[in-house]
Amino acid sequence: MTLSIQTLSEQLPKAELHMHLEGSLEPELMFALARRNGVDLPYDNEDELRQAYQFGGLQEFLDLYYAGMSVLLTEQDFYDLTWSYLEHCRQDNVTHTEVFFDPQAHLERNVSFDVQFNGIYRALCDGRDRLGISFRLIMSFLRHLSEASAFEALELAMPYLDRIDGVGLDSSEKGHPPEKFERIFKRCRDLGLRITAHAGEEGPPEYVWQAIDGLQIDRIDHGNRALEDAALTALIAERGLTLTVCPLSNYRLCVIDDMKKHPLLTMMDKGLHVTINSDDPAYFGGYVNDNFRAIIENLPIQPEQVYQLARNSFEGSWLDAPDKHRALGKVDEVWQRFQSGSLNA
Ligand code: ADE
Ligand code: ZN
Repeated sequence: MTLSIQTLSEQLPKAELHMHLEGSLEPELMFALARRNGVDLPYDNEDELRQAYQFGGLQEFLDLYYAGMSVLLTEQDFYDLTWSYLEHCRQDNVTHTEVFFDPQAHLERNVSFDVQFNGIYRALCDGRDRLGISFRLIMSFLRHLSEASAFEALELAMPYLDRIDGVGLDSSEKGHPPEKFERIFKRCRDLGLRITAHAGEEGPPEYVWQAIDGLQIDRIDHGNRALEDAALTALIAERGLTLTVCPLSNYRLCVIDDMKKHPLLTMMDKGLHVTINSDDPAYFGGYVNDNFRAIIENLPIQPEQVYQLARNSFEGSWLDAPDKHRALGKVDEVWQRFQSGSLNA
C-alpha cells in the first residue's frame, strides 16, 4: 500500500518556529481557568466563544486574543497553558518548538514577569524531560505599544535572559513599522539575543526591508507580502532567511481569501526557506499537522516538498549545530522509509 502524503507529513519529525503560547489557549482551558480564577467571560460556553472566532483581519483577532488571555493570572495558569500546547506537539511529532510569549500584555494586567516566566519555563523543561521536546523561548514586543514600554519589559526580563533565547515583534502591524523598534532590537542583539519579527503579514514589503536592514533579523515571521517585491524576494532567498509561514492563520485572518491561493509553493519555487507553523492554533483551527493538511488538501504539493518543509523547520531553528544535525538525520530516516515503502500508516 502506498502511503499518503498526509501520513508522511504526520510522521515526519518537525520543528515549530512560530507559535504564540497565548494563542494556544483553547476555549475549554479558557473556561476552566476563568472558573478557577473567578474571571467573568462575556460568553456562556465554549461553543459560543468559538462562534465568535470570525475575523475580518488581524486587529479583529487581536482584540479577542488580548481579551482571552485575561484568565491567565497565576504561575500554574501559564504552566497549564504551555503544557497543553506541548501535548499537541507530541501528537503532531513536533520534536522541537520555539514559542513566543507576550510579557507586556500580562504586565499591563498586573501579572508579573516572574509569574509568567516561571510557569512557562517550568512546563517547557517538563516537556523536554518527559516528552523529549526541545525548545527555545522568545519574548515578543508588542508593536502597538511604545519603544519605552519595550525597554521596560526588557529591563524586567534581565534576570531571565540566560533562559530566553530571542526576541520577536508582534501585534498590530499596520502603522507600526519595524523602524519604531530599531534601538531596542539593537540593544537585544548586543545582549546576544536572537532576533525575529512579524513582517509582511498585513504590512507592506517596506516593513520587511526595515526588519532585515534595520532590526537585522535572523528570521522573518510570515513574510507573505515580500513576494510583491522581486528584489526583496531575491534578497531573502540569497541570504537564506527562514520564513515562518502560517497557512491556517493566513486564511482565517484574510491574508488570503482561499487556501487554494496560498503562496507557499510560489515561495518554495523562488528559493525561499519556508516552514509551516500554527501561529495561534486555538483561534485558527489547528496545530502543525492541521496546517500541513490544509496545504496538502488545497495545493499540488509533492512528497519531496513536504520532506523539504520538515528539513527547513530544523534548518531554520535556533538549535545548536549537533542537535540540528541529529534532528535532520531523523527527518531523513522517515523520508527514506517513505521512499522505500516501509513507512507504516
Ligand atoms: N500575535 C499573535 N498572533 C499574531 C499574529 N498572527 N500577528 C501579529 N501578532 C500576533
Ligand atoms: Zn504570529
